Amino acid sequence: MQIDLKGRTALVTGSTQGIGAAIATGLARSGARVAVNGRSADRVREGAAAVEREVPGADVVPVAADVTTEEGAGKVAETLSQVDILVNNLGVFGAADPLEITDAEWRRYFEVNVLAAVRLTRLFLPGMTERGWGRVQYIASDSAIVTPAEMIHYGMSKTALLAVSRGFAKQAAGTGVTVNSVVAGPTHTGGVEDFVYELVDRDLPWDEAQRAFMREHRPQSLLQRLIEPEEIANMVVYLSSDQASATTGGALRVDGGYVDSILP
Ligand SMILES: NC(=O)c1ccc[n+]([C@@H]2O[C@H](COP(=O)([O-])OP(=O)(O)OC[C@H]3O[C@@H](n4cnc5c(N)ncnc54)[C@H](OP(=O)(O)O)[C@@H]3O)[C@@H](O)[C@H]2O)c1
Repeated sequence: MQIDLKGRTALVTGSTQGIGAAIATGLARSGARVAVNGRSADRVREGAAAVEREVPGADVVPVAADVTTEEGAGKVAETLSQVDILVNNLGVFGAADPLEITDAEWRRYFEVNVLAAVRLTRLFLPGMTERGWGRVQYIASDSAIVTPAEMIHYGMSKTALLAVSRGFAKQAAGTGVTVNSVVAGPTHTGGVEDFVYELVDRDLPWDEAQRAFMREHRPQSLLQRLIEPEEIANMVVYLSSDQASATTGGALRVDGGYVDSILP
């Protein structure tokens, strides 16, 4: 399958590192013009340069803006007059005693992980439906389906994102715009190695360490290793393509079989 995204403009929120950076690179590799986003101009410049190093000749637009604010979302809309592929990747996560999570923290998880994505969808979906082509995606998590006791606020936000995705897919019904969420599982992003080595023998080489970590601490995973960011990006690139035109309103899993269910 040859995926060709030439002529499409993509915005990937939170793409200066991790899964977002891999998605931006994957979309650029398939020919899309890609907006790399983060909060600071320096980090965004570095993120954009990293995509250009990976994909020489890529058309990359650095967009420094805090997309969790109305002002930041407005700045994105001013910089990019048209977005054909919107990837709502930005998300915060962390462990907390459920009884200790404050109202402010509940609101922060909702505002960063859900409302920011809703706001950008409101800004860019109408243009897509008018033009008769578009792709909106939300990066959810296994925690949307298997609520972790130590991350209820995070799980809540990702479950909400699945509802948002399904709802906007209905809103876009019959327009040529598809709307989906990607259920990502435990992924090898920055900081994860330190976390793994806190829990397993520090002398183990990385590959063995991650397998020991998965065996002992994530036994539900059928993959039995962490997912690489590029493996999440591959699904996002496919969903962004013309070839994925009949997939909408879905929650597509790239979770290494972590969620113990046959559907979706
Ligand atoms: N990592 C995993 O194992 C995993 C598993 C399942 C799902 N996910 C989901 O995948 C997504 C990406 O996760 P990740 O681990 O790759 O994230 P990450 O490494 O923490 O990266 C977060 C990105 O978001 C940017 N960012 C943070 N706040 C921002 C804001 N207010 N406005 C604009 N950009 C902002 C950061 O850029 P700056 O710091 O430069 O602003 C950075 O590029 C999240 O939605 C997460 O919930 C992750």
